[in-house]
Amino acid sequence: MNLTSALPDRVADANVAQLARFHALLTTALSQGRCLKVVMAHYMGADAELGPDVQRVMVRPVELKGGLHLSFLLRYPTKDITKNLLVDEGVALLMKWAQTTAFRNAHLHTPTEEVQLAFSKKGKASLRIGKAHVSEGTAPAEPAGHNRDKHRFLELSRPFLHELGVTDAQGQLIPAMSRKWKQINKFVEVFSHALERSPLADKKQINVVDFGSGKGYLTFAIHDWLRHTLAREAQVTGVELRDDLVKLCQGVIKRLSLSGMDYEQGDVRDYHPAALNVMIALHACDVATDYAIHLGIRAGAEIIMCSPCCHKQIRPQLLSPHPLRPILQHGIHLGQEAEMLTDGLRALLLDAAGYDTQVFEFISLEHTNKNKMILAVKRDQATSPDEVIQQIKDIKAFYGIKEHCLESLLKADGLVPIGMPLLGADTGIPPSL
Ligand SMILES: C[S@@+](CC[C@H](N)C(=O)[O-])C[C@H]1O[C@@H](n2cnc3c(N)ncnc32)[C@H](O)[C@@H]1O
Repeated sequence: MNLTSALPDRVADANVAQLARFHALLTTALSQGRCLKVVMAHYMGADAELGPDVQRVMVRPVELKGGLHLSFLLRYPTKDITKNLLVDEGVALLMKWAQTTAFRNAHLHTPTEEVQLAFSKKGKASLRIGKAHVSEGTAPAEPAGHNRDKHRFLELSRPFLHELGVTDAQGQLIPAMSRKWKQINKFVEVFSHALERSPLADKKQINVVDFGSGKGYLTFAIHDWLRHTLAREAQVTGVELRDDLVKLCQGVIKRLSLSGMDYEQGDVRDYHPAALNVMIALHACDVATDYAIHLGIRAGAEIIMCSPCCHKQIRPQLLSPHPLRPILQHGIHLGQEAEMLTDGLRALLLDAAGYDTQVFEFISLEHTNKNKMILAVKRDQATSPDEVIQQIKDIKAFYGIKEHCLESLLKADGLVPIGMPLLGADTGIPPSL
């Protein structure tokens, strides 16, 4: 039965709209590599091909010979049947099942969302979008597939990759650059999830500044993904201290005639961006990360992404409070603790400044030892920072921390909320990084 044609006009029109929305969300998730799985549940027993007793169907994108496919797992009481279809055929089949209400429920899972299309007993469709369950401390999951490594956000054929020495003239990955290639893609993936849940999702123009952008691998990648893959109006700026790297990247921009991208020689400690929606600082040394976060908060950036590098400021201040003393007598533990506290306080300060903040592993340890990411997305509505401020105060008191660079910068700017405790009067921020 085709329910949408058997219903009163008003309900049928509403159903068509919900089906079209589900179709759009599904195809977008697939094209962006964000579809983890689709589950068809609550079978009505009436599809001739499926027979009377299929229990549910689970569908995952898989990379197979010939490109991306959808792998269907049909679950019966005593057996499972698998079949793989090209993406378009698979989507058409899913939409047919949804439209004919062969199944009353269709669930689309992405790393950040769960979309549920449900049909009531009377055949009325409803669509609900909820948050995906993401376990704490982990980066959003990658889409499933027979070969996850082949799933990429960017295409190897993109010209900037050749210019930066990631690919050869034929667009083939240079083996020595495979780790960098993985890192670039993971970075774009994390950024894509942040963008989607940020106030920028519907904004026309996005201004991105990447501080300490180095040779620009990630700067060019974000530019390419925003402008080429998403066709968004984006302006991406790399800010780098080293003149040779600035010239190199400016040369690439010129040779490829890239619009919406520039590369400037500058210092994050005194840089004043014209407009800033996304602040990126990856592997900026020590307190350069604090300066970059501070700049992002001050400019009202909707997304702040940083991957801190060395952590020198907090370590000499740390007490070894009872009963941690026997553990902290080992230098390695003291270093790990200094890192955790420096980044933990950064995250709490971002939280107090109005951001939803996550700290997670960016890419696995085998690729680089600089593997932590602090990701902050501006909240739509202000919430009281009182509880977080108390937490910061307690942590600082327990460990004897007098000075945290980001806190001092926020305080000097009056950006720290009233009542934010600052132990220690002197700022002690080093003049150079
Ligand atoms: C470890 S590299 C990271 C490059 C790039 N972000 C990445 O992750 O591939 C750090 C870069 O930050 C630059 N840098 C250091 N201090 C800086 C500052 N105060 N302002 C701007 N850039 C800085 C360095 O010259 C270097 O190129």
